[in-house]
Amino acid sequence: MSRTGLEASGVTIGGARILDGKAVAAEVRAGVRARAQALIARGVQPGLAVVLVGEDPASQVYVRNKDKAAQEAGFSVRTLKLPAQTAQAELERVVRELNADRSVHGVLVQLPLPRGLDSERIVRALDPAKDVDGLHPENVAALVMGDARGLAPCTPAGCIELCDRAGVSLAGKRVTVVGRSLLVGKPLAFLALARDATVTVCHSKTSDLPAVCREADVLVAAVGRPELVRGSWIKPGAVVIDVGINRLDGGGLAGDVAFAEARAVAGWLTPVPGGVGPMTIAMLLSNTVLAAERAAGVSRA
Ligand code: GUN
Repeated sequence: MSRTGLEASGVTIGGARILDGKAVAAEVRAGVRARAQALIARGVQPGLAVVLVGEDPASQVYVRNKDKAAQEAGFSVRTLKLPAQTAQAELERVVRELNADRSVHGVLVQLPLPRGLDSERIVRALDPAKDVDGLHPENVAALVMGDARGLAPCTPAGCIELCDRAGVSLAGKRVTVVGRSLLVGKPLAFLALARDATVTVCHSKTSDLPAVCREADVLVAAVGRPELVRGSWIKPGAVVIDVGINRLDGGGLAGDVAFAEARAVAGWLTPVPGGVGPMTIAMLLSNTVLAAERAAGVSRA
């Protein structure tokens, strides 16, 4: 893995070096663009379909950003906007239609879905080979089995990529993940395990959470609680990855980590915004180009 991008952009603030997700994501996206060009030269343009149901404002922003990034990568992008009242059967029909469309290599149904829609059944309706979110049970099984033929969820894959490109090896390290969601906490635990880390997963019932966190060489916060992780929870020199994107009532964003406190203690730290967030989109593009390469029979992965 290249270390140059991060080292070139590595900024030191206080004690911690900043893991600049924006710079690393730009590096990943440039690689994806080159792979897309190579496919286009063979007559295959990577295609991404994004399905947005309803009008959740945060989801609208995420979908717009994904659409724009995919276009910049040279993909064909189809964004389907469906009303919040869409029936389960209709949404499943749309998914099946995209599964059958050979010009579409990746399908993403933005979550959460409006009330009344069963997201698990929608995810199961996806063709696993096009499930660029890595949420289909077949891809979850591949992740648990350490089978590289699956597609890994984008946010945890982005955390791992960020470490790789910073030259942070996980082998033999104590990686502690705060949060056990299907989208981040659980898959991240398995990705870290596949890198030979010793993994601890914490949650709301973990006793003495600060003490458990203090043991971590690499601490990942993915709970969605603004500034839950304090500086006193961090082992000096630890790598701290903040997955939280919390919208504050008074406006602005906060991570799950108290940034100012953490930067005085940590060795490496991701900012919010500009840390894990940009990596999520970069890994979505990476999964989509990989799915397109596989469909075209030119992938070695
Ligand atoms: N909502 C929040 N994060 C994600 C994501 O990674 N994928 C999808 N489909 N929806 C999300």
